[in-house]
Amino acid sequence: MHLILGTQRASGVIRDALAANCPLRVSLRVADAADSRAVIGTDDAADLPGGVESRGLALVRRPQDAAPMAMRVALTGAADLRAITLRWADADIPRSPWLPVLPRTLPLAAVEPEMQTGGVILGRADDPERQRQPLEFLSIGSDRGIVFLGGSGSGRTSALRALATQQADAIWIPSDPERAWDAVVALAADGAHGAGLVLCDDIDVRISELPTEYGQHVAQLWEQILRHGSGTTFALTASRAAGPLGRLLEALPRRGLLRMPSRVDHLAAGGDSAGFDRDRPPGRMRMGDREVQLVWVPEERLRSSGTERGASRYRDDHTWSPRSALTALVTTGVPTVAESLADAHPGCDVVALSGELRDLQASTRPTLLIGEADAWQRNWPLWQRVRREGEALIRAENSTELRQLAGVRELPPYARPHAGRAWSLIGDAGPRRVIIAALAPRR
Ligand SMILES: Nc1ncnc2c1ncn2[C@@H]1O[C@H](COP(=O)(O)OP(=O)(O)O)[C@@H](O)[C@H]1O
Ligand SMILES: [Mg+2]
Repeated sequence: MHLILGTQRASGVIRDALAANCPLRVSLRVADAADSRAVIGTDDAADLPGGVESRGLALVRRPQDAAPMAMRVALTGAADLRAITLRWADADIPRSPWLPVLPRTLPLAAVEPEMQTGGVILGRADDPERQRQPLEFLSIGSDRGIVFLGGSGSGRTSALRALATQQADAIWIPSDPERAWDAVVALAADGAHGAGLVLCDDIDVRISELPTEYGQHVAQLWEQILRHGSGTTFALTASRAAGPLGRLLEALPRRGLLRMPSRVDHLAAGGDSAGFDRDRPPGRMRMGDREVQLVWVPEERLRSSGTERGASRYRDDHTWSPRSALTALVTTGVPTVAESLADAHPGCDVVALSGELRDLQASTRPTLLIGEADAWQRNWPLWQRVRREGEALIRAENSTELRQLAGVRELPPYARPHAGRAWSLIGDAGPRRVIIAALAPRR
């Protein structure tokens, strides 16, 4: 193998060990005498004249030469190159001594033949020191999981999509806050045992978009799920791993760092300094000390796969309709609410509770009693009767009443405010979120 090295500045760059292996030295005109000395042992290359007619003028020195000799480098034009190409047209193309750089796009279809059973393909790693580019896998059920960290547009969602495409029963944590809450609570309740592959995109956003109390609770649930769920593999994404979220993500042994907005962010996410690349293309990540190109699946491909079905495992719309003879609703704005409900449920007797204590007339139709919290306080026996026999509804905007009127201490399921949500209490069961369509703002 012949190595031909070229450099603009030689001094301080071509070290002794390298110079010792480069016996034939040529220096074109250099600006600095030190550069000339580093290559040919004298200052002469710094004294070569400038100007057009001196181009290609150089000094050459071989080990046996007492002094450098002047030479002119032959000028090669397009015709010479063409002639050489023709002359060697039948020759074998020499094998590159190194592997090609990782591709910018690695379609799943191109690597699927190398798929292993029980594993999904993450991407192709570059291991230049060993001149290998092995595929990286995630073993579903035995690997704990991976977190992808990266800035916006770095390829986080696409990374999860590629995994979900390969694992038809993967469970996506929905992005809707209520459904996300339900899904995380359900996962924590069943210990996330053997759930296969669980995916959560933008887990930092899922947590921070909730009211503080709910966000903290969800973070705790996640920590519990990640630490104890066995037989389940998790793939999460986030934009950073700071604060309490960082601790939560520590539970996952593998970490892929996609493009980060700054070196500081890259280092804070646990990256090595050498691995920071401001211009990292989307889907290219740093994992340990290796570069990995994530496998790519176009967006359309997921829609037809089974992932949505996986998500629906936790879907429950809970649209409310009367289910007992007696229903109490705690709300503000009683007259308007009574009117809406009477319209929406013509089969019911809708009774607005005023300040005074009152008796209920027996009715064969379901009765809907509507009152503000203080009206219910004054009609305490009636409230207690409903709690015993019927269903109590507390609107999500009146969450303090859940504690004060109904004595519920636990955090109720997250409910979006001003969206017709209420908590339903029946008997001793904990609060359930219901949607009272008649009370949702009209679009
Ligand atoms: N693995 C990949 N290979 C090639 N291009 C990718 C890859 N991942 C993402 N991209 C490109 O980057 C864009 C943004 O990706 P996306 O996953 O939505 O980023 P994020 O969720 O981090 O904001 C995609 O639309 C696609 O064009
Ligand atoms: Mg995204």
